Amino acid sequence: MSLRRVLTGITTSGTPHLGNYVGAIRPTVRASRQPDTQNYYFLADYHALIKVGEPARVQRSTLEIAATWLACGLDPEKVTFYRQSDIPEIPELTWLLTCVTGKGLLNRAHAYKAAVDKNNATGEDPDAGVTAGLFMYPVLMAADILMFNARLVPVGRDQIQHIEMARDIAASFNHLYGEHFTLPEAVIEEHVATLPGLDGRKMSKSYDNTIPLFAPREQLRKLIMGIVTDSRAPGEPKATEGSAVFQLFQAFASADETAELARAYANGIAWGEAKERLFERLDREIAPMRGVYDELMRDPARIEHILKAGAEKARAVATPFTARLRHAVGLRPLMAAAGTAQPAKASKAAAPSFKQYRESDGLFYFKLLDAKGQVLLQSTGFAAPREAAQAIARLQKEGPAALSALAPQLVQPTDTGSVHAALAFFAEQ
Ligand code: TRP
Repeated sequence: MSLRRVLTGITTSGTPHLGNYVGAIRPTVRASRQPDTQNYYFLADYHALIKVGEPARVQRSTLEIAATWLACGLDPEKVTFYRQSDIPEIPELTWLLTCVTGKGLLNRAHAYKAAVDKNNATGEDPDAGVTAGLFMYPVLMAADILMFNARLVPVGRDQIQHIEMARDIAASFNHLYGEHFTLPEAVIEEHVATLPGLDGRKMSKSYDNTIPLFAPREQLRKLIMGIVTDSRAPGEPKATEGSAVFQLFQAFASADETAELARAYANGIAWGEAKERLFERLDREIAPMRGVYDELMRDPARIEHILKAGAEKARAVATPFTARLRHAVGLRPLMAAAGTAQPAKASKAAAPSFKQYRESDGLFYFKLLDAKGQVLLQSTGFAAPREAAQAIARLQKEGPAALSALAPQLVQPTDTGSVHAALAFFAEQ
C-alpha cells in the first residue's frame, strides 16, 4: 500500500489573508484532491493560546479559518479536518514526548532563542516574558504530527526546524520504546509565490499590511486602491519588476493575462487602471468562494458539526494508538503486570468483555460490557451467530477504528469515551 499520509496545521490566531490563500490554502486544497493520499488538516487552537491571550479572538479565528478552508473547497468527506483541542490524546502524547525531549533541543528553537536574545540585548532576565508554552511549542507540534504517523508535512520555511525537532523527538521515543513513530519530513512549496502586502513588503500579519481574503467586495476594492506604487504618471511606461500590483495579479491570473498586463505596463497604463484590473481579476476568483464563506459564517453550528465529525474520524486513529503508546511506556493495567503470573480468571474479571446471546425474536446479538459488567455497547439483531461473531472479532482487532464501519449494526452508545477505552483495551492485547 503506497498511501501517502499528509498532515498540516493552521494556528487559529488571525483572519486568513491573500498571502495565506496563495501560499497555503490554495495549494493544499488542490493537493488534497490527489489520489493515494490521506490528508489530515487541523486547526491548531492549542498553539494559538501560546500567542493570543484573547479568548474571543481565538474563537473567532477558529471559525474564520474553518469557514475559509471549507469555502475554498476542502472536502471534509475526503480529508480528516478537525480541531486540535477536540483530540484529548494530543496533550496526552505531548507529555509522553516531553519526557523524551532534551531540554537542550528546545533551547535551540528559533522562536524561543529570538525571545531570549531580545531580552539579553535589552539587559532583561533572559526568560522575561517567555512562557513555558512558547518553550514547549515544538513538542506540542511533534505530538500533532506523530499522533497520525504523518510522513509529509507541508509547511512554510519558518517551520522547517520544528519538523526536524519532531523527527528527533520521534527517534528518541522509538529508540527507547520501539518503532512506534514514522519520521516526518517537511514539504516546502518551492514555486509558490510570496505575496507582497499593501506596503510592498511580504504580506504578513506582523507588518499589518494584509488584504483579508474574504473582505467584502467594496472593501477589497478600497484596499487594492491603497497599494503602494511609484509616482509614474499615466502614459509613462512602468516596471513590472518590484510592482506589488503586478505580483498580486500574477498570483491569480493565467500566463496570457499576465503577459497582457505586462504589455499594458510598457504602454504606460495608469496605476488606477492597473489596480482596477487587479481588483476585477481577484474578485473573479474570490467572489464565488466569498458567497460560500459568508453563508458558512452565518451558520457556525454547521461548522461545529463538521469539526466534531472530523474529530471522531481522527480519534478513531488517535485513541487506539494512544492506548498502544501508553502500554509501550508502561502505563498499563496492573493485572497484566510483566513477569507476574496472574491467574487468568482474575485478569478476565477486571477486563471488558463481549457477550453473545440469542433473543426471543430469533436473532443473534452481542453486547460489550465494562469490567464491572455494565453494558457499554449493544448490537442490533443478526440473522446468524457467525455474523455477530465476525463483528465482535473486528471490534477486538481494530478497536475503535471499526466503530464507524459497523455503525449500522450498533445502537448508538451513550458513553462513547468508555466504549473507545474498552475497545482500545482489546486492540492492545
Ligand atoms: N506551527 C505551525 C505554524 O505556525 C502550525 C502547526 C501546528 C503545524 N501544528 C502543526 C503545522 C503540525 C504542521 C504540522 O504554521
